[in-house]
Amino acid sequence: MERIVLTDQKKEDVRQAADIVDVVSDYVKLKKSGSNFTGLCPFHNEKTPSFNVTPRLGIYKCFGCDAGGDVFNFIMEMEGVNFIEAVKTLADRYNISLPTKEADDRFTEQNRLIEGIYHALSFAGVFYHRTLAEDDDAKEARHYFKNRGLNTETLKKYGLGYAPGGFDTFYKHATENGINEEYLVEAGLIKYSDRDQRPFDVFRERIMFPIFNPAGKVIAFGGRTMEKGKNPKYINSPQTKVYNKSEAMYGIHLARHDIRRKDGVILVEGYMDVISLYQHGIKNAVATSGTSITTQQMQLISRYSKNLLMVYDADQAGQNAMIRGLETALTQGLNVRLMHLPEGEDPDSFVKQFGAESFHSYVQDESRDFISFLIESAEKSGAWNDPMSRKEEISRVLGFIASVDDEIMRQTLVGHLSKLSGIGDRALFNELDVRLMEKKEEKQRDLERARRQREREQAPDVSAGQRPAGEPQLSGVKRQPVSRPKKRPAYEQELIRLMLAYEDDMVYYVGNNAHEEEFEDEDLRRFYQDLKKRYQHEEKISPEVYTRMDHPFPQIVSEVLIEKHTVSERGNELRELIIRKDADPYATARGALKTLKIAFFKRNLEEISNRISEGGISDEERREAYSDLMETRKQLSEIEKTPADYLFPGIDEIESEEEETG
Ligand code: UTP
Ligand code: MN
Repeated sequence: MERIVLTDQKKEDVRQAADIVDVVSDYVKLKKSGSNFTGLCPFHNEKTPSFNVTPRLGIYKCFGCDAGGDVFNFIMEMEGVNFIEAVKTLADRYNISLPTKEADDRFTEQNRLIEGIYHALSFAGVFYHRTLAEDDDAKEARHYFKNRGLNTETLKKYGLGYAPGGFDTFYKHATENGINEEYLVEAGLIKYSDRDQRPFDVFRERIMFPIFNPAGKVIAFGGRTMEKGKNPKYINSPQTKVYNKSEAMYGIHLARHDIRRKDGVILVEGYMDVISLYQHGIKNAVATSGTSITTQQMQLISRYSKNLLMVYDADQAGQNAMIRGLETALTQGLNVRLMHLPEGEDPDSFVKQFGAESFHSYVQDESRDFISFLIESAEKSGAWNDPMSRKEEISRVLGFIASVDDEIMRQTLVGHLSKLSGIGDRALFNELDVRLMEKKEEKQRDLERARRQREREQAPDVSAGQRPAGEPQLSGVKRQPVSRPKKRPAYEQELIRLMLAYEDDMVYYVGNNAHEEEFEDEDLRRFYQDLKKRYQHEEKISPEVYTRMDHPFPQIVSEVLIEKHTVSERGNELRELIIRKDADPYATARGALKTLKIAFFKRNLEEISNRISEGGISDEERREAYSDLMETRKQLSEIEKTPADYLFPGIDEIESEEEETG
């Protein structure tokens, strides 16, 4: 089996690519709550969500069972694997290659090929982009983009380019630069001519749209002709080892954060629509890449948001494609709204002419839930006026409602349809039942087909440890966590929290008043040592610094920083509590320091009395132990009866003392 050589850089690469919300969403249905996400904890059984994810810090935390940590901890617990295996799982999934030693032959072979393909694609992306920017032959292309209103920044952002003419211009350039021909072919950039088997460029004289995966790697290209009416208008990369058309979403790498932030995604038809909207500040749009909408694409989208607005071209083809995708979206549990643009427009042309503001208000006024949308379309076409075809329309709408999994949602939708159509609930529900039966049978057949397919695939040779790329890692059973974080002393956690929250000044203050041996919890002690060291070396101190470090640091950040009330929906009242609690963070620190010292002296006492009662010590040692015991008791009671404010000077006092003495 392969042995992985894990560098810090690689770990960091994986952490960067493996978005925590993305990863957790494979197991937990997350709901946005402020800047966090909540859901039902996968590590214990619960009915109300106490599981939280904080994307900014890349960490999760459950208030029910105290599970918490970073994306690696999550996979470790979820899959019951060790750290290395967790990194590897995520690396596989996000297509980051980990250098291996004495690797299993088949694995390296596969890995080498995939790396080679990525390399070829990224090389091609740079080449097309440079050609567009610099080449004399690309004048027309530069002109084309300018005409379509794209600025240089946008061209860069989307890596847009130009594939020059000639038979094999790119091929020559690539091979001259040491790119292996095999990779070029496997990447779908080169083909062999039927006539004489000569290699030629797949993309010639086309403007180039690189297609990226969510982690931002080029996985394919779409190439558009600049000639009006030329067929085909687009040439798209074929399926390859790194490009699965039915999983890719154009623009997702740039849109995913905004989709989350706005908790909504706009699905459009064309590459240009995505880009144009983005340039106008509407950054949550994505497109399919020349396919109809697939289940996998809707699953991908629903990881980021459940609210989908479909805005396809206003022509018949666009509208038909949109309705075809509707069922898939509903089946995946998305809340779908649809919008019909003014005749002849697409999102690109609309936003270019009228601007983002108009687009937003158009959405406000003109987008519809799918039932209203379907009925309005039927009204426009006249089908609604004819009793027979109206009946058909209603039964079509019921077919869509039957795709919705959630029963309460279905009932709501039927109520809505009843209101719009004037048909009573009873009749509608009866018809819906028929539709549901049909759907259920269909689903059964699909499942059966999928099962047989899986059996066929698993039968021969799937190399151990390697997951087919992109396969969702949903595990049916809830796994028992491997390690539950132990209970740590609250006052020690509190001190770490304060230092993370108030950074340098607080580290200075606590560092002046505490000693590392006073920390009982080993991990927290290490944390404290590291904070102090960073302070002394004038290195940056922030929660982010620690969430990027190795276990157990990210876990501790999640333990101490995410408190139940910071993510509660009863916002204000509780926020006030926190503020009051931290009204004087130094006073809070003094309280925690006092408790820290008391606990420390108590541990010492216990240790000394154990030493005495265990026996086997010399008389002199015993005398010493007793005198230690007395001394420690005295100190302890001194500390116990002195108010914290007297025990520890204020921060200002420390600072002015320093000025005087130094
Ligand atoms: P459109 O024909 O609407 O093209 O196809 P467009 O991207 O809006 O281009 P402009 O605005 O005319 O420049 C919509 C999408 O369908 C796919 C592409 O993904 C395209 O963006 N498509 C279209 C193809 O894959 N092949 C084609 O030949 C045409
Ligand atoms: Mn279009």
